[in-house]
Parts: sequence; C-alpha cells; structure tokens
Amino acid sequence: MGMFSRKLGVDLGTNNVMIYADGQIVLQEPAMVALTIEEERVVAVGQEARDMYGRHPEHIEVLRPLRDGVIADYEVTEAMLRYFFRKVSGRMQFRGPEVMLSVPYGVTSVEKRAVHEAAVRAGARAAYLLPEPLLAALGAGLPISTPAGNMVFNLGGGASEAAVLAMNGIVVADSVRMGGMRLDEAIINYVRRKYSLVIGEPTAESIKIQIGAAVDIGQEMSMEIQGRDQVGGLPRTITVTTSEVVEAIAEPLATIVGAAQAVLEKTPPELASDIIDRGIVLTGGGALLRGIDQYITRKVGVPAYRAENPIVATAVGAGRALEDLAFLRRTLVGL
Ligand SMILES: Nc1ncnc2c1ncn2[C@@H]1O[C@H](COP(=O)(O)OP(=O)(O)OP(=O)(O)O)[C@@H](O)[C@H]1O
Ligand SMILES: [Mg+2]
Repeated sequence: MGMFSRKLGVDLGTNNVMIYADGQIVLQEPAMVALTIEEERVVAVGQEARDMYGRHPEHIEVLRPLRDGVIADYEVTEAMLRYFFRKVSGRMQFRGPEVMLSVPYGVTSVEKRAVHEAAVRAGARAAYLLPEPLLAALGAGLPISTPAGNMVFNLGGGASEAAVLAMNGIVVADSVRMGGMRLDEAIINYVRRKYSLVIGEPTAESIKIQIGAAVDIGQEMSMEIQGRDQVGGLPRTITVTTSEVVEAIAEPLATIVGAAQAVLEKTPPELASDIIDRGIVLTGGGALLRGIDQYITRKVGVPAYRAENPIVATAVGAGRALEDLAFLRRTLVGL
C-alpha cells in the first residue's frame, strides 16, 4: 500500500462520469456497463460498453446504472465506480481515494446513502456528497461564497436543475427529472410520426448534437439519417433539418426551462436584482445545444450565458470543493 490518497471530484451523471484530480479532468466516460445477462458479470465499462451498445451478442446487455440522475442499479453503479477509481489511480499504489460526488438537488436521504455506500464499497476511503447545482456553480467559477445572489442552470442528461446560491449555499432551487435524453426521445417520436421511420437513441442524440437547436438560429443545417421503415421493416434514409429538430424538442425543452422560471419566482427580492444584473450561467451537456442561451433568455426574461466549459463544470466544482476543506466544513451534507 502506498501512502497517498488521491482527491477526486466525481460527477456521477446519468450520461457521463467525469473525474477531476490535481487540477484537471482525468476521466470522461459514458455511464454505461455491459453485463452478461445470466451471471451479471461485468464485461465492459464506460466507453467500451458504449461501443457495444446496439451491436452486442444476445447473452450480453448494455445498461446505464443511473436513471434520471439517481442510482437505478446499485451493484452495477458500484462496479462502474470501482473500475473508474482504479483507472485514474494508474499503476501507482494509492490508498483508496477521497471523493466528492455530485447528487441531484432534492434527492431523498435513501438515494444519498446509496451513492455514499456505492462509492465506499467501490474503494473510496472517504466519500462526501454535495448537490449538483452547487458544484456546477463552483466549477463554473461563480463567486458563490459572497452574499450576492448567483444563479446556475445545470442541463444534464437525465435531470435539469436551477438554483440561486449565496454564501456557499443553495437559497432556492428547483429540478425536473428530465434532460437531454428526453430531447433524444422527442426526436425519435418526431421521426417516427412524420416519416414512419424507427431510429435508435444514438442516432437521435447525434441529430441533436450535429444539427439541433433550441430556437431558429438563422442557420439551417441538414443531415442524412438511416432508420428502419415502420411498416416494411427495411432500412431507409431520410434527411432531417435544424428547424425540424427545433419543432421536435420544443415541448420537453419548455418543461425543462420551467425549472428556471420556478426558481426565479421563488427567489427573495433581495437576491432577484443580483440575478437580473448577473444573469443565469448554464452548465451541463445540454448547455451546448445551439441557441439554448437565447431560448432561455427569451423564455425567462433574464440573460442566460453558457459557462466556459459547461460539460465539466460539476466535476471541476467537486474537485475544488474537496480541496477547500473550509468550504467543505461549512456546507457538508450530513450523512
Ligand atoms: N453539443 C451538444 N448539443 C446538445 N446536447 C448535448 C451536446 N453535447 C452533449 N449534449 C447532451 O448533454 C447530455 C449529457 O450532459 P451531462 O454530461 O451534463 O449529463 P450527466 O451529468 O451525465 O446527467 P445528469 O446530470 O442528468 O445526471 C446528453 O443528453 C447529451 O446528449
Ligand atoms: Mg450532471
């Protein structure tokens, strides 16, 4: 056993797991695991498991151990974390890492305990948990320790959370257990309804990322996609455009953005003027959607800005929180 214990900031997401250590992101992998169906033996984790998705033999299943931001499969989550912890430890002998993990805002104590236990069983020497919007704000560089109000809106894969923060704590927050994956589903449904074509989740996600937008951005793009004809069952190719994606995702997007509206309605007047002056900072993978800043600005009436590197904000914040023990002591979620 070595003497060192590494400090890891872990964004345990529905879509992605990201780990920050020693000032940088050291791991970024899909939150996916491939298992044998009968013995539930792990055959691949992370990117390797994702690469198998949709093309694996019948005795194997590929799944996401988290759903809507919370653990859906406890043992598989533990196995996934163990693999990732080992991977970032490299060949050096470390004691179990000290980890800070993100949990969605508003999770139950049972759900929190499940995350804590999974991390410890996966080899962590100590595990601390803080709500994702707080960590995302910290990682985005917002001055959350001051008495002024700052607002963050984290757009994840399985959940979206808005929060106003001041003096290292959440003043008001709201979340919907709905995120980018719901937008993918909406694209699948749209293509099925309009073209009688069945497409998979990875195709829907790549449509969203490659040509998608939240609003008409004045730049129409298109993309050829292949699917299976709903009637004949044969493969068929169609072309989809940016404005079709805007239309397809409009409904779930409006619901997601409702979380930010709900927070603004609940924000105390002392802080509301700070938020109007400073705007809303967008984090999470969903913040990368084209025109999402304009869409939110228009919809909630407060300027919204994309964080510099939105997809890593939570992991960076988790790493920083762990390094700053004073911060930890003031805000630590009791377990
Ligand atoms: N360029 C992009 N445009 C639009 N959406 C994107 C883009 N890049 C990633 N996403 C979406 O961001 C989501 C993943 O974001 P993120 O990694 O923040 O989620 P997560 O932390 O795993 O999930 P959660 O916080 O809900 O548990 C996915 O739905 C993905 O499709
Ligand atoms: Mg997240």
